[in-house]
Amino acid sequence: MAVYVDSANLEEVREALATGFVRGVTTNPILIARTGKTPEEVVAGICGLEPAEVFYQPSATGKEAMKEELHRIREIVNGFSRPPDLIPKIPATWDGFALVKELAPEWRCAVTAVYSAAQAYLAREAGACYVIPYVNRATRFGGDGPTLVAEIAYVLEGSGVEIVAASLKTPDEVVAVLVNGAHHITVPLNVLKAMANHPLSLQAVEEFAQTSRRFRNLR
Ligand code: E4P
Repeated sequence: MAVYVDSANLEEVREALATGFVRGVTTNPILIARTGKTPEEVVAGICGLEPAEVFYQPSATGKEAMKEELHRIREIVNGFSRPPDLIPKIPATWDGFALVKELAPEWRCAVTAVYSAAQAYLAREAGACYVIPYVNRATRFGGDGPTLVAEIAYVLEGSGVEIVAASLKTPDEVVAVLVNGAHHITVPLNVLKAMANHPLSLQAVEEFAQTSRRFRNLR
């Protein structure tokens, strides 16, 4: 199981990777556009922070344009002395599945923006190593994100294809997808921090601190 940070903001990525337990980074064209930087600048910045893996989603659409962009990004990544594993994150579309089939012999690929178990099945047949269901979006658009993950887990069982659950907005949503068969999660920094905290943990820490202060004062 791995946890990834879903961000293109270098300060957020730096903070997440500094924990030591975040394996890598997932990006998408919207997250990159929000930084005001080019995809090349963002990828170079992320590589400088030395994550183990980077999931990169091309902003181009169309099979040849996506392929060209991925090769361009790979050159940037390979220019680093400790390059991360670059994992193409290819949208679940007609062209996307065909591209995964073409790239799979040389690249570990992920199929992203998955909203159905049927798409997950095609990702498996195309040779993807990962499927990325959009959990909160699926719920927001009238479905049930955690149930979607359970259906995908059923379809992929025994295939070796792993589920990276994405579009997760709360710790409860994270727990629901892990219970339903997700292998990995990718979350924004604020969700990662929310997962680390619980009001009762903070209360317990405060009680320990108060009690030990009291005993120190008695001595
Ligand atoms: C995943 O890799 C995506 O970047 C992301 O989770 C998309 O969903 P959101 O926009 O609802 O966060």
